[in-house]
Amino acid sequence: MLDAAAKSVFHMLARNARLKTMASKYGMRKPTSFARRFIAGETIGEAIAAARAIEAIGLMQTLDYLGESVASADEAAAATQEYLRVIDAVTGAGIGRNLSLKLTQLGMSVDRSYARDNLRRVLDTADGFFVRIDMESSPYTDLTFEVFETLWSEGYRHVGVVLQSELRRTDEDVRRMNELGARVRLVKGAYKEPESVAYQSKAEVDEAFVRQMQLLLLHGHYPAIATHDTRMIDAACRFTASHAITPDRFEFQMLYGIRRDLQMALVKQGYRVRIYVPFGREWFPYFMRRLGERPANVAFVLRSILSEAA
Ligand code: FDA
Repeated sequence: MLDAAAKSVFHMLARNARLKTMASKYGMRKPTSFARRFIAGETIGEAIAAARAIEAIGLMQTLDYLGESVASADEAAAATQEYLRVIDAVTGAGIGRNLSLKLTQLGMSVDRSYARDNLRRVLDTADGFFVRIDMESSPYTDLTFEVFETLWSEGYRHVGVVLQSELRRTDEDVRRMNELGARVRLVKGAYKEPESVAYQSKAEVDEAFVRQMQLLLLHGHYPAIATHDTRMIDAACRFTASHAITPDRFEFQMLYGIRRDLQMALVKQGYRVRIYVPFGREWFPYFMRRLGERPANVAFVLRSILSEAA
């Protein structure tokens, strides 16, 4: 996890329209272009090809049609429609049925009832799928739980949430979700959050992650431990072994293009590993969050731009 200052620089750059236009022009142009390391492609066809390659080597996948913070009901409706097409395409392709989505993509910042109704449409169509609601920045935490818990109370069970260890509230959310029987993905948290709501040091976030991971493994419902941090992963392996929690009762999750060596090493040891596969034209904010997590990625992008220019 990068320190808070650098994280906020990348979050600021992610909102820069000129940078976005430039990056969007060059980032996915060729198979070697820089954004392709983290993004499977711009089309559903490219995403399905990536998902097939992932499944062929013993990993599982979840597809994320990229998009967030849409500003109108029409855009939210279009994103929902696109998710319905993705569901069709995944079903037709015969690959694993697992999706990840963001509520601001379905209209949460326009009106929470749009997001809830749009998500309901997705869930009604997503027969045999599992749909994970990604967790966004802290102004959306309560709204996200509200939408999730409303749909849960209506009987939807093929939907789950994400909890972020960096937030001070998360111990309590873990307890609530465990009581509800909800499926949780645990992450450290990708957003720059103020001190009032979030731990600022890596040590505190890591400590919270281990604590919450243990609660989810003991009392949760098929939790997903989503991290590339070998110390967190080792802690999960040790904890499950010492508590006789078998590898079919949880899964590890990692992002497309990050620590492929570790993904395969875990599969070889008999663990379940799911890869989060983002695709679509709106890849810039996601891409900037990945740069913000690791400055070495900036050098990788610069090298790739220079080699394209040569
Ligand atoms: P940490 O940041 O400490 O990194 C540990 C090691 O992992 C690094 O030393 C490096 O080797 C490697 N690594 C991490 N990030 C890298 C990168 N970008 N490039 C190259 N190497 C990298 N967040 C959120 O707020 N809401 C969400 O819904 C989700 N969803 C989600 C799904 C899945 C499947 C994953 C894996 C992650 C998320 N995240 C997320 C992101 C998460 O919150 C977090 O920002 C990243 O996973 C990075 O944190 P790590 O746990 O990997 O640890």
